[in-house]
Amino acid sequence: MKFTGKTAIITGAANGIGKATALRLANEGANVALVDIDQVKVEQVAGTIRAAGGTALAFAVDITKNNDVKAVAAKVLATFGQIDILVNNAGAGWQKQIPFKDTPDGSWEWIIDLNIKGTLYFTHAVLEHMVERKYGKIINISSIAASVGIPNLAVYSASKGALVSFTKALAMELGPAQINVNCVSPALVARETEPLEPCSGTFLGRKGHPDEFANIIAFLASDEASFITGADYLVDGGRTLGPRGV
Ligand SMILES: NC(=O)c1ccc[n+]([C@@H]2O[C@H](COP(=O)([O-])OP(=O)(O)OC[C@H]3O[C@@H](n4cnc5c(N)ncnc54)[C@H](O)[C@@H]3O)[C@@H](O)[C@H]2O)c1
Repeated sequence: MKFTGKTAIITGAANGIGKATALRLANEGANVALVDIDQVKVEQVAGTIRAAGGTALAFAVDITKNNDVKAVAAKVLATFGQIDILVNNAGAGWQKQIPFKDTPDGSWEWIIDLNIKGTLYFTHAVLEHMVERKYGKIINISSIAASVGIPNLAVYSASKGALVSFTKALAMELGPAQINVNCVSPALVARETEPLEPCSGTFLGRKGHPDEFANIIAFLASDEASFITGADYLVDGGRTLGPRGV
């Protein structure tokens, strides 16, 4: 129960990595605040945690709305008295890959808003409190697209690259306040219900289960990772190693 007495906010907690992380932190004793635009599913996840004896609040919020984000942070603080952990996980990109030159004007702003601004808003909303307490763990979920790029997903790659730079700059700013800021960069996350069938995209020959990403997020959120800050962990089954041959 390494998170007993801690409070964690997890964005995008209704599905995938965010849901696995919320269940994991709650299972290890954290009070969790689950944020997602999908009201039905986020309440279901909170219900599952409560049924198992945990403490969870659910917020059906669009993280691209700064005032709503501020209101969530204020409510969490008023309820639990502290915010120890922030996992900026909510994010998305186009399902279909499109060459940048063919991407129509006005079609990509939502990716920038969700992947960059949502993380900036939530981080900004908790920082004053974390700095005052001289304690905080911030984990930003980027993508391997940040470090190697993905062709025909240039806007997504740019948005995820911004999160890695943000992580490094913030880690330097917040080091004196004993706040750890790190990044996890996944690839090929299996759907929760998807069997881990063979997948040639990784050297491990399969996709990663959401729990396998929650493992490192939980580590970075814990005091075991107290001397790690400004790092970007590629959790990709060897996807970015190469060459892979034919
Ligand atoms: N799936 C992959 O293969 C993969 C690869 C690299 C990086 N990532 C990144 O990992 C993170 C989690 O990925 P996942 O596959 O678990 O995602 P997912 O699609 O399963 O879950 C994302 C959650 O974010 C929520 N969300 C979307 N827009 C929102 C908004 N405006 N406000 C609040 N919530 C919102 C969705 O409702 C959903 O529950 C994302 O940042 C994603 O970009 C995923």
